[in-house]
Amino acid sequence: EDYQLNGFPDFMRKEIHDQTRAGHRALRGRLDERFATARLDGLGLDARELRAVRRVKFLGCGSAYYAGQLGANLVEELARLPADAEPASEFRYRNPVIEEGTLYVAVSQSGETLDTLAAVQELKRKGGQVVGLVNAVGSAIARECGSGVFLHAGPEVSVASTKAVTNMSLSFALLALLLGRVRDLSMAHGRRLVAALAAIPDRITDVLAAEEQAIAAAERYAGTEHMFFVGRVRGWPVAREGAQKLKEISYVHAEAYEAAELKHGPLALIDHTMPSVVIVPDDELLAKNIGTIEQIRARNGPVIAITNADLPEGLAETVIRLPRGEPELDPILFTVPLQLFAYHLATALGRNVDKPRNLAKSVTVE
Ligand code: G6P
Repeated sequence: EDYQLNGFPDFMRKEIHDQTRAGHRALRGRLDERFATARLDGLGLDARELRAVRRVKFLGCGSAYYAGQLGANLVEELARLPADAEPASEFRYRNPVIEEGTLYVAVSQSGETLDTLAAVQELKRKGGQVVGLVNAVGSAIARECGSGVFLHAGPEVSVASTKAVTNMSLSFALLALLLGRVRDLSMAHGRRLVAALAAIPDRITDVLAAEEQAIAAAERYAGTEHMFFVGRVRGWPVAREGAQKLKEISYVHAEAYEAAELKHGPLALIDHTMPSVVIVPDDELLAKNIGTIEQIRARNGPVIAITNADLPEGLAETVIRLPRGEPELDPILFTVPLQLFAYHLATALGRNVDKPRNLAKSVTVE
């Protein structure tokens, strides 16, 4: 069934619409309501070992790297541990310092990406502690890591990753919750997060039900040659993944920028031909993001706001709305309308979304 279209026009669309089911699988048996924490037995780490973690570093390529940035934000926010993400391809060539107390997390849908596998091997050679966050059971990276978290997204056929990315984010949230609860994340906060996480797969259904919004936006901007994707803090990895999706399947030039960095160069490019997709979560940075939109509009740049906040009427030309949950976890949901936007823009241009030119699903060469 995973390898059949079942009435969908292509695998990408099918896999986007499979995200509710896939998300439920990622969470199954892993949420502990009683102790308001997560259970990730595959990590093979007990509470003492989890408390010994001083830093978390995510390694991956492409969408797995951008997802890792979202994971790093979650770990930093929920567990108050320093965390970051790096492309596995860079890591393996730069003679990295391997610190004791750092938990390295190798992130990969296929489990076969050569650059990520080589980073794991280099880590192991140098005595680093590495776990895998992998979709394909029995894959090279899963075997090399020996322990970790399986994504349970099911087979992903389309070259552009969708449901695997969402399951990566859900799994990072579980990891962050687990690391947080053996530190100073309270029971009450943990309860809120467990409930919000459990609700995400069904909220994805709500986002998909409002697909019309993404279709309208995609049709409106299908003639554009360049686009910015703009976000700050929680919205930044979302913007990067949104730009990645658009460029890989539509061949439209898309570039992601941290919102406040716009004024340090890219603003020079803004005019009526340069639309910006702005990620606007309803969080403590809402006013800042509204300010960013105003700056873009003042230079005649069209704005597509992706938001779960109530924005002032007429602020953005186009608005794609989604439901609100817990602010820490909402970035996981924000990726879905961006998948739809990229998908519909690419199909409006007649692209073969499942097999974009020059790209491979799994890159097992240098
Ligand atoms: C290729 C694919 C990307 C993917 C990346 C990492 O470049 O085209 O969509 O994000 O590999 O793949 P992985 O299987 O390691 O997640």
